Amino acid sequence: MADYDVIVIGGGPGGYVCAIRCAQLGLKTACVEGRETLGGTCLNVGCIPSKALLHATHLLHEAEHNFASMGLKGKSPSVDWAQMQTYKDDVIGQNTKGIEFLFKKNKVDWLKGWGSIPAAGQVKVGDEVHNAKNIVIATGSEASSLPGIEIDEKVVVTSTGALSLPKIPKKMVVIGAGVIGLEMGSVYARLGAEVTVVEFLDNITPGMDAEVSRSFQKLLKKQGLNFIMGAAVQGVEATKTKAKVTYKLRKDDSEATLDADVVLVATGRRPFTDGLGLEALGAEILPRGQIKTDGHWATTVKGVYAIGDAIEGPMLAHKAEDEGMAVAEVLAGKSGHVNYGVIPGVIYTQPEVASVGKTEEQLKEEGVAYKVGKFSFMGNARAKAVHQGDGFVKLLADKNTDRILGCHLIGPSAGDLIHEICVAMEFGASAQDLALTCHAHPTFSEAMREAALACGDGAIHA
Ligand code: FAD
Ligand code: NAI
Repeated sequence: MADYDVIVIGGGPGGYVCAIRCAQLGLKTACVEGRETLGGTCLNVGCIPSKALLHATHLLHEAEHNFASMGLKGKSPSVDWAQMQTYKDDVIGQNTKGIEFLFKKNKVDWLKGWGSIPAAGQVKVGDEVHNAKNIVIATGSEASSLPGIEIDEKVVVTSTGALSLPKIPKKMVVIGAGVIGLEMGSVYARLGAEVTVVEFLDNITPGMDAEVSRSFQKLLKKQGLNFIMGAAVQGVEATKTKAKVTYKLRKDDSEATLDADVVLVATGRRPFTDGLGLEALGAEILPRGQIKTDGHWATTVKGVYAIGDAIEGPMLAHKAEDEGMAVAEVLAGKSGHVNYGVIPGVIYTQPEVASVGKTEEQLKEEGVAYKVGKFSFMGNARAKAVHQGDGFVKLLADKNTDRILGCHLIGPSAGDLIHEICVAMEFGASAQDLALTCHAHPTFSEAMREAALACGDGAIHA
């Protein structure tokens, strides 16, 4: 007799969502989490704390730069960094406690401690071995550094250290112009730090639609972020309070250095599977450290599944959550499914950047005949009214069938607007379907409709 139908290892967005759905589907479920709080990277040191700091510093930026022109005069707020940290920590606490409540409500047992899998069907936590008919690994990821760079989480930090710096640095160097580098770089630039981003490639946010990426970089430069592109970081020399970053420009091999109070290493994350005992268990690991799974999230060991950042695919909380729900359905004898072609990506800077589906570069590479509908937020009355006219929507549709293939936008509330396209894509909608849908005026969402109109006979306000 098994103790549990399912034991999920890891209480992040993949693991906790999986555990709750398993319990809702009638399976006796436990979730193992080694941290003191549930919610994983996302709630503790990722999505949620970064968004709290982005929110507070955005309000500061608005007060400093945009209030006066709207007739709101007077002193800008001053920054109480300790209070901003308290606010961020409170937000984390509310969210992580919320998951604990949901576990109780849904009768998911939280097995506190670090879990390992001594054999298929068994999970060891501390000295106790629990039996499980099925095991789901949702152990997430950790920051990956560069060779020769030592992280002390004080002067040379990952995103975790960057979320809780004891004071606002005067000079910050960010290695990597990816999502973490640009979100956290924006936070500290708004707080007055001189932020320089050093990126190996020639474009920021690799993989993003190139036109959006170029426009995004221009806007970030306007906000005060400095960029050194095409630069390979050679090393970081750090003392207790300062650091020197050496980089080499790829175009001519010339070397230069940058001084900083804090260096944020944001060069990607790698799956975290330490201590699970996967090698002894015989689970296949892919060359980049992900656990190999099939189309139903089964690993190469019978009865052991894996989801989220620990497997292939974008390292995003909502991707992990969707896999968590889908694998729960599979374990309950239903048919779990994730549409990997419709997973949105959002960068929570100001303006926000969002995308879903294919980029123009991908369509060209695949030889797909496509058309582009573009619309600038300058033509959107609501955006102009709130001084957020920067950015545009770019909708991509099949040239022959008009079916929506992708959407990439930079502009106000882009992270929310993108979901209109996600739903449209899930239903196989055409650009015309979107163009014929009434959108309330005045809303930012009218820009989405205008981009759809631009795919056909033309936008009205362009
Ligand atoms: P995780 O959230 O990493 O959770 C894994 C959990 O497993 C951890 O709590 C860990 O302690 C636990 N664990 C590991 N091994 C064991 C073990 N052996 N026993 C017990 N417990 C174990 N994604 C977004 O979609 N939107 C964002 O805005 C966003 N912002 C981010 C900002 C930052 C700074 C970072 C670092 C990441 C961000 N991400 C964001 C990515 C997102 O956090 C991850 O994609 C997501 O957390 C992955 O979920 P997961 O459940 O796979 O793993
Ligand atoms: P990333 O993969 O987004 O970006 C890493 C960047 O570092 C790339 O631009 C890469 O070219 C650059 N780089 C690599 N080596 C370098 C070197 N030696 N010198 C200079 N630049 C170098 O990784 P990041 O930003 O660390 O984020 C990790 C993960 O976290 C991402 O996969 C992302 O999905 C997730 N995340 C998601 C967020 C969101 O959805 N809003 C927010 C933050 C993180």
